[in-house]
Amino acid sequence: MNVLVTGGAGFIGSHIVDRLLSQGYFVFVIDNFDNYYSQEIKANNIRHNQDKKNFKLIRGDIRNSDLLRETLKDMDIVFHVAARPGVRGRLQDSRIYHEFNVTGTLCLLNECLNSNIKKVIFSSSSSVYGESKYLPIDEKHPLNPISFYGATKLAGEKYCRIFSEIYGLPIIVLRYFTVFGPRQRPDEAICKFTRLILRGERVEIYGNGEQTRDFTYIDDVVVGNMLAFNSETKWGTFNIGGGQRLSINELLKLLNEACGTNVMPVYCPKTIGDVSNTWANVDEAQRILGYVPKVDVRTGIKKYVEWAINQVGSGS
Ligand code: UGA
Repeated sequence: MNVLVTGGAGFIGSHIVDRLLSQGYFVFVIDNFDNYYSQEIKANNIRHNQDKKNFKLIRGDIRNSDLLRETLKDMDIVFHVAARPGVRGRLQDSRIYHEFNVTGTLCLLNECLNSNIKKVIFSSSSSVYGESKYLPIDEKHPLNPISFYGATKLAGEKYCRIFSEIYGLPIIVLRYFTVFGPRQRPDEAICKFTRLILRGERVEIYGNGEQTRDFTYIDDVVVGNMLAFNSETKWGTFNIGGGQRLSINELLKLLNEACGTNVMPVYCPKTIGDVSNTWANVDEAQRILGYVPKVDVRTGIKKYVEWAINQVGSGS
């Protein structure tokens, strides 16, 4: 079976690629190596796979319909992970979010429909909910995103629904809650704080640090994707969370403990796009897909810090 992973050189995409390769699938990656963060980090994320016979990297953009058409000819399944990420994206970049996340998704879905694709698994985000009206958040929660990223992911979801329900393309939408782990994006809290702590520098906390996140370990997100891949379901939207939440102050405390440090934060103004709390209700994902998060957030943080320390040691 041939599988395409869009954005397969990024943090989440590269882990899905690893799992698919280890299970013997032929994996094709389309990635445009967008400069939201270092291209070298993305190259490193997939370097260990480049000589494998069942791996192929295509450097290109999902808005290029000719490239998509040619690539999708031989594909069975698509994991659509490519996106401009980040809820704190600037107003000046709003059109980039739209181009990548809405136009890009629409181009991909059109070409999937014209090919023989059996299923699309769409990486969405908890940011489609906006400020929580209640916790934990289930899939019926109102959808009022407060960031360009969230709004464009929601638009992508809406297109998925049309392609699935009206045109019959099987699609599963997975809403991830603040994913962390090895290869995490450098701008996200756990990666950024750990990097600064290991250098002995102070970290900046936006707001008073009492905002909470359901931090989800990458292995659970990969399992969620594999369950969606193997499921018979033709359409569905599911929260993929870790099931626990931490405040950012607690997060810093746990990272300090794991690193054996006592780095103090500098409190800065709250940023636009940041919601106060997230916490996933994953009952629906459990009921339909059999998803149960396995990695407790404290264990995940320790695993992440060990990996980050090794990276510093190896000069990566
Ligand atoms: C993360 C991802 O970055 C988004 O791409 C994704 O869509 C989203 O999760 C999601 O759940 O869907 P976020 O929750 O903001 O977004 O994750 P972090 O960047 O790790 O930030 C977590 C918290 O730490 C936020 O409240 C943020 O304000 C805070 N933070 C982050 C700081 O206080 N200081 C920093 O330097 C960075």
